[in-house]
Amino acid sequence: MSNYHIKHLEEYYQVYRKSVREPETFWEEIAIEHFMWRKKWDKVLSWNFSKPEIKWFEGAKLNITDNCIDRHLPTRGDKTAILFEPNDPNEPTEHITYKQLHERVNKFANVLKEQGIKKGDRVCIYVPMIPELAISLLACARIGAIHSVVFAGFSSTALATRINDSDCKMVITCDGSYRGNKTIDLKGIVDNALEDCSGVETVLVAKRIHSDIQMKEGRDKWLQPLLDEASTCCEAETMDSEDPLFILYTSGSTGKPKGMVHTTAGYMVYTAYSFKNAFQYRENDVYWCTADIGWITGHSYIVYGPLANGATTVMFEGVPSYPDFSRFWQIVEKHKVNQFYTAPTAIRALAKQSLDFIDNIDLSSLTVLGSVGEPINEEAWHWYNDNIGKRKSPIIDSWWQTETGGIMICPIPYVTPTKPTYATLPFPGIQPALMDENGEEIKGNQVDGRLCIKFPWPSMARTIWGNHQRYKDTYFSAYKDMYFTGDGALRDEVGYYRITGRVDDVIIVSGHNLGTAPIEDAINEHPAVAESAIVGYPHDVKGNALYGYITLKDTGESRNQDNVRKEINQIITEHIGPIAKLDKIQFTEGLPKTRSGKIMRRILRKIAHKDTSNLGDTSTLLNPEVVQSIIDDAYNDK
Ligand code: WT7
Repeated sequence: MSNYHIKHLEEYYQVYRKSVREPETFWEEIAIEHFMWRKKWDKVLSWNFSKPEIKWFEGAKLNITDNCIDRHLPTRGDKTAILFEPNDPNEPTEHITYKQLHERVNKFANVLKEQGIKKGDRVCIYVPMIPELAISLLACARIGAIHSVVFAGFSSTALATRINDSDCKMVITCDGSYRGNKTIDLKGIVDNALEDCSGVETVLVAKRIHSDIQMKEGRDKWLQPLLDEASTCCEAETMDSEDPLFILYTSGSTGKPKGMVHTTAGYMVYTAYSFKNAFQYRENDVYWCTADIGWITGHSYIVYGPLANGATTVMFEGVPSYPDFSRFWQIVEKHKVNQFYTAPTAIRALAKQSLDFIDNIDLSSLTVLGSVGEPINEEAWHWYNDNIGKRKSPIIDSWWQTETGGIMICPIPYVTPTKPTYATLPFPGIQPALMDENGEEIKGNQVDGRLCIKFPWPSMARTIWGNHQRYKDTYFSAYKDMYFTGDGALRDEVGYYRITGRVDDVIIVSGHNLGTAPIEDAINEHPAVAESAIVGYPHDVKGNALYGYITLKDTGESRNQDNVRKEINQIITEHIGPIAKLDKIQFTEGLPKTRSGKIMRRILRKIAHKDTSNLGDTSTLLNPEVVQSIIDDAYNDK
C-alpha cells in the first residue's frame, strides 16, 4: 500500500493509524519513495519538546530544487510549472515550463552568487506576484541562501524591522507593482526602509511597471541585465536536512514579529505530501491558490508543495475585483482550473456581489475548493458550495499556521465527508490533543479545549530566528510536552475538529466560555450583515460582556438599525443561547484587517475598553482609516 496518496476513507484511517503507531516508518517510507536525496538520513526523528529541539531526517543531504525542478525534467520538461496570469486581463498569460523554470532559476542563482551571496546568508525578497518572486525563492534555495519574503504590501517600517531582525545582506525588489487599477511604488518603499538597514549591501531590482525610479550608485542593480549575462548552469548546493530553508515573519499577540524558521527536508516532505492529498492533485490538473507568496500559504502551496509534485501552479498578480468581480471566475474558466484554494475573507467579499458575475462563466473544471486562514462561517461555506462548487466539489476547510508549515487538519476531498465550518480530521502524522485549563488532556468526543499537537510532524518551524527562548515560551511552555497552537477547538461526536478561534479571543461571560467565531457565524446569518467581529469588555455583573462591531451590506435600502440589533440578538439566542447576546452593537463601515485579511480584534478590544491611548502600529493594516471612524462612532454613544 502506498501511504502517499489516500483515495478512500478506510484507507485514510489505516494510514492515519500507522502514522501514529509507527511515525518514523511512516515518514521514512514516504521520504524514500517520493523524493530525491543526495545521501539518506542516519535517523528519521529525534525530538524533545522541553528544550525544544526537533530534527527530521538527520544526516540526510539534499537540495529542495532538485526535487521541485530537476527531477521533473526527463518526464515533465515541457509541462507548465508556473502559469502566470497578469493583473491586466489583456496582457498575455505566461506559461513557464519546468525546463524554462530550471534555466531561469539557475540564472538567478548565478546572479546571487556573483553578487556575493553564500550559503546561509539571508536574502530579503520584497517582490509582487510576478514570476521573479517564485524564481527568487527557488534561486536562494538552490544556493543554500535563506530567503525571507516580506509581503509586498507591508510598509517601509515593517520591512525595515524584518530586514534588520534577520540581518539580510540583500534585498530583491521591483520598480513597482500593479494592483487592480493602481500602481504601487515598491522601490520607494524599499529606499525608505533601507535608511534604517545598514547591513544591506545590494538591492536587485526587477522591472515591472517601468516607472522612473532612483537607483543608488553601488547598491542598486537592475536584475535583467545581470540575468542576461548569467549562465543557465548552476549546480545545486548540497544541504543538510536541518539547514534553514527560509524565515517567514508572523505577528505575535505582543511585541515584534516572530521570524519562524523552516528547515529543508521535513518541510519538503510534508508540504509535498499534504499538497497531494489535500487537493487530490492528478497529473495535468491546473491548480490555483489565490494567496500571495508573501504568506506561508503561498510558500507551501503555490511554490514548494505543488512543484515538488510536478504540478502546474497558477500565480495571479491581481485582485478579485479588477477589472470587475468576475475576475477569479474568468481565470478559472480561462485556464480550466481544477483545484481552487482561497480565503474566507475573499469568499465573503465575492458573496456580497451580484450572481451575474458568475452566471455565464463555465466553472465545470473545478473539482476541489479550498479555504484557509480563518474559520469559514456557515453562510460563506454554503455560498461557496452552491455557487462556485455547484454542490459537486468538496470544500476543504484547511486549518494550519505559519508555524506548522503545512496543512494540519483538513478533509481529504472525495475521501472525508465534509461538514460546514469543520476542518474535520487530522492529516496522517498529525496528533491533535485538546487540553483543559489545568493542563490535562481532554479525551473522548463532544468536548472542547485548547488545541495542541502532541507529536512532531516534519514541517514544524524549528525556532524563531535569533530568539529560541521566545519559541519555547510561545509554543512549548503552556502545556508540558505539547506544541500549543493558540487556538481553541471542539471535537464532535465523530471526532471531527472545529476550530473555534484564537484562545485569546475566547471570552468568558458569566463564567461561560464563549468563542467569538460561532457568535460571529450566527450574526453573519442575518441577511443584512456583511461581516462582524466580537470582543469582550468589562462588565460589573458578568465579568465580561460582548461588544459586536458589525458591517452591514450596502444594498442601498435604508434600515431601522434598532430592529436589526434586535434581530441579531434573536439569531444569536437561537444559535447559541441568550448568554451569547451582545450588550453593545456598533455598526461600522468596515473592520480593521491585517493584510492577510484577518480582523484585528486587538484594536477593537481596546476601543471597546475605551482605551485608545496605545493602539500600537496600525500602519500595516489593510485599511488603517477605518480605525478612526470606529473610534469616533464608538464614543458618540450610538
Ligand atoms: C491562524 C494561523 C495557514 C495559513 C494562513 C494563516 C487561523 C487558519 C484556519 C481554518 C480556522 C484558521 C488559526 C491559526 N486559521 N486556518 N481553516 N479555520 N482558523 O496563517 O497567519 O499563521 O494564522 O489562522 O487561528 O492559528 P497564520
